Amino acid sequence: MRLAVLGGGGFRVPLVYGALLRDRVKPRVEEVVLYDVSAERLEVIEHVLRRLAAGHDDPPAVRTTTELDAALRDADFVFSAIRVGGLAGRTADERVALDLGLLGQETTGPGGIAYGLRTIPVALRVAERVAALAPRAWVINFTNPAGMITEAMRRVLGDRVIGICDSPIGLIRRAAAALGLDPARVSPDYVGLNHLGWLRGLVHEGRDVLPGLLADDAALRQVEEACIFGPEWVRTLGALPNEYLYYYYFTREAVAAISGPTRGESLLSQQEAFYAAVRARPDDALAEWLSARRQRDASYMAEARDATDAGERDAADLEAGGYEGIALALMAAIARGEPATMILNVRNGSAVPGLPEDAVVEIPCTVGGAGVRPLATRPLPGRFLGLVQQVKAVEQTAIEAALTGSSRLAVEAFALHPLVDSASVARRLLDGYRARIPELAAVFPS
Ligand code: G6P
Ligand code: MN
Repeated sequence: MRLAVLGGGGFRVPLVYGALLRDRVKPRVEEVVLYDVSAERLEVIEHVLRRLAAGHDDPPAVRTTTELDAALRDADFVFSAIRVGGLAGRTADERVALDLGLLGQETTGPGGIAYGLRTIPVALRVAERVAALAPRAWVINFTNPAGMITEAMRRVLGDRVIGICDSPIGLIRRAAAALGLDPARVSPDYVGLNHLGWLRGLVHEGRDVLPGLLADDAALRQVEEACIFGPEWVRTLGALPNEYLYYYYFTREAVAAISGPTRGESLLSQQEAFYAAVRARPDDALAEWLSARRQRDASYMAEARDATDAGERDAADLEAGGYEGIALALMAAIARGEPATMILNVRNGSAVPGLPEDAVVEIPCTVGGAGVRPLATRPLPGRFLGLVQQVKAVEQTAIEAALTGSSRLAVEAFALHPLVDSASVARRLLDGYRARIPELAAVFPS
């Protein structure tokens, strides 16, 4: 099989390639085509992959290209993990909002809208090229904001595009581990949107074990999300929230915690140093990558962690193979018809009552050779449904704005977001983002 990786010069690509190296079952990926807008970044990542492959039998061949069509032609699977505007764009997503006293974050709040607005037209063009050159390919979308981008790409690709995220499975693994259970033997009742969902139940041998976990302070201390939100609050909710809900439930703490550099700003300097180091010393590519990765993982979600007693993310947790593990499991389930149940970003249909049918939601799905089928979920109580309905309305407004180039709709999307506290600030957000991000200015020329 041939796999095209869009954003192939990205820092996480070695994780995907490492997982492909370990995957011995046939049919397997024999060729990986890395596509990126930056030839320099491709070269660096190719060095890392070459060193990862050393000593393995039949490592998948690696080809790089800066031409999208060349990457897509005859691909069986496409992983899309692009960042339009790069990390400089991410810092603008954060700073423009923070300068207006609002949360500045990659995917949540105004920063996520800005990221979506400039990414949607590019994602749509990718979808059109896939439809033209590899109409039978499956697209696995990691590009954030993943729910919004997957929903936009669906307009061209329908069910052939599936969005993924590592945060729900991470939460489920932590919850199962805290109870001493094998995560493979629990069925999660997880429901919501990407980066906005709740684990409301966890069934093991026919019994929901979540209430027991919520009542057990010692066990809760092993679940990072419970540390971040506090045992009282998770008991009040009757659910374990996705870690990104920190930005909604503790907005002022999250904003206050970003006093020095933002996540994007620290990653920008870290990453520049990494790519420069490998270009200077290609022989050290793997060591440089491993150490940069350790640094990156250790500081993940630092604002939520520092404000609570969550500490650093567990090593075992990091080794569990979040991001790349999900993509590979999904690809294997489709390509080999190995049935699996996974939490994915898919068209709602009637799975989540109260949300539009065409809305992309993040829920458990069964996966097999024919593709993905969402499982029905229990109705969401008002305290959860209200938030997902509002945020979904924002996402759909942002998609319309990006596809039509309508500044009015873009302002509406910002203004309707629960983390934007004044409609007058919404206009200033759009102007601020247009001034700092050329890719966004190009979508909204006036
Ligand atoms: C998690 C999320 C991803 C997000 C990433 C950010 O893995 O699920 O959607 O992109 O965190 O991590 P970073 O190291 O870039 O801050
Ligand atoms: Mn994610």
